[in-house]
Amino acid sequence: MPKKLIIAIDGPAGSGKSTTAREVATRIGYVYIDTGAMYRAVTFIAIRENLLKNHAAVTEYLKASEISIVAAEGENRIIWNDEDITLKLRSLEVNDNVSEISSIPEVREELIVKQRMVGQSGGVVMEGRDIGTVVFPQADLKFFLTASLDERTKRRFKEVRGTEQVDEENIRKNLSERDDKDSGRSVSPLKKADGAIEIDTSDLTFEEQVTMIVDTIRKTEKEFRS
Ligand code: DC
Repeated sequence: MPKKLIIAIDGPAGSGKSTTAREVATRIGYVYIDTGAMYRAVTFIAIRENLLKNHAAVTEYLKASEISIVAAEGENRIIWNDEDITLKLRSLEVNDNVSEISSIPEVREELIVKQRMVGQSGGVVMEGRDIGTVVFPQADLKFFLTASLDERTKRRFKEVRGTEQVDEENIRKNLSERDDKDSGRSVSPLKKADGAIEIDTSDLTFEEQVTMIVDTIRKTEKEFRS
């Protein structure tokens, strides 16, 4: 039996991490975990409960709740207590507030414990901002995906077009602000982990980036076997 690896994929918003990580996991038969969805879930609840400006209350609410990530067939569903909130996590309002909520140290502590529980026995492709640096610094393979702001704006626009009234300029502004906040925060800032393989996806096709990562994983699995 080949060893089931822990694969970390980090990078800024819109770098293609999610779609790539999901496809990679499907091709190699691993479980895909989208940790951003967990931060989005806490943000959605904070908005709904009117707690955005009260970080201590957000943490308390989170501690008193049951949040689970259910991974099946490449999809992640987020269940908050008994409510499936998966479809509520991609709104502009959540986008605009998620960096602030994810900068609360106690929120990160809570979610990181859950992420480690889900990933520790391997066979996972876990995607986020701090997987290779904080959640699993001992991951068997780490990738850091980047892309130019122009390219990331185009991708996000395509993704949300039709679902909300958005224009490209707003998306660019949100991505750029999130880049600054995610990279500049004091706890677990977004940065390339030691030993991570950096892939600039600006000029790669989806197939090219997926193949590149799958090939590297296959090679590493073989090294563990021999
Ligand atoms: O990957 P995403 O855009 O869905 O992530 C939403 C936000 O969550 C992102 O702006 C930063 C935060 N995040 C984080 O701080 N740490 C992670 N491991 C994943 C996401």
